Amino acid sequence: MQLKNKKALVTGASGGIGAAIVRRLQAEGATVTGTDLTPSDADFHIAGNLMDAEFCDALPAQAMAKMGGLDILINNAGIITRGDITQASDADLQRTMAINVEAPFRLCRAAIPLMADKGGGAIVNTSSCWGVHPGPNHPVYVMSKAAIASLTQCLGMDHAHQNIRVNAVCPNEVNTPMIRTGFEMRGLDPDKAIEELNASVPLGRIAEPEDIADVVLFLASDQARYMCGALLEVNGGKPVQ
Ligand SMILES: NC(=O)c1ccc[n+]([C@@H]2O[C@H](COP(=O)([O-])OP(=O)(O)OC[C@H]3O[C@@H](n4cnc5c(N)ncnc54)[C@H](O)[C@@H]3O)[C@@H](O)[C@H]2O)c1
Repeated sequence: MQLKNKKALVTGASGGIGAAIVRRLQAEGATVTGTDLTPSDADFHIAGNLMDAEFCDALPAQAMAKMGGLDILINNAGIITRGDITQASDADLQRTMAINVEAPFRLCRAAIPLMADKGGGAIVNTSSCWGVHPGPNHPVYVMSKAAIASLTQCLGMDHAHQNIRVNAVCPNEVNTPMIRTGFEMRGLDPDKAIEELNASVPLGRIAEPEDIADVVLFLASDQARYMCGALLEVNGGKPVQ
């Protein structure tokens, strides 16, 4: 029970990786508030849109009031925007930066003083291998993931003295709706496409959500007590190509 008595807020909690993170944190004894776009029956869920600045600004205090504390913030929600720069509309740019960068910025800004008041905390942001090694034809997504990587490094330095550790997980390909819908949009069978993708990974398969959730759990836990501003790549040995 690595997270006994800890209170955690997880964004994108209904998504592929988010749901796995919620399960892992709960299994380790944490009380969790999950948030996502659509309402859920789960009593630990708060529905809201991360493009809504006021919602983001208020969410850490709302989660803290609900749970009686806030020790851990997991900024997991994100969207992928595909295509080269000539295919990116203003709306694509704004939406991607709002969800992937501005929302975690707002949540960190609101959560850090609350954590500092209680003696510390841990924040895990979600970048991507593509945020640290740009891949082709996704400049909007790559730029957003580079920005959250940079924010993580900055906050990791700036708030260590308050005993707040800020780190990021950087997955390569993960078997979630995000990647599967991309194949569907291109008219491919997601199962077959993932089989082909598996062959491109030295470990023999792309990641499952639990492979990422375990690293998030590590970064959120006391096992990572001396880590601040790290960008942890979880890639099965596959470089960005
Ligand atoms: N799947 C991959 O291959 C992969 C690789 C690297 C990084 N990532 C990152 O991992 C994180 C989780 O991705 P996933 O693969 O589980 O994707 P997913 O699409 O399964 O889950 C993302 C979740 O974020 C939520 N979300 C999106 N926009 C929102 C908004 N405006 N307000 C509130 N919630 C919103 C969605 O509803 C969804 O539940 C993302 O930040 C993604 O960029 C994923």
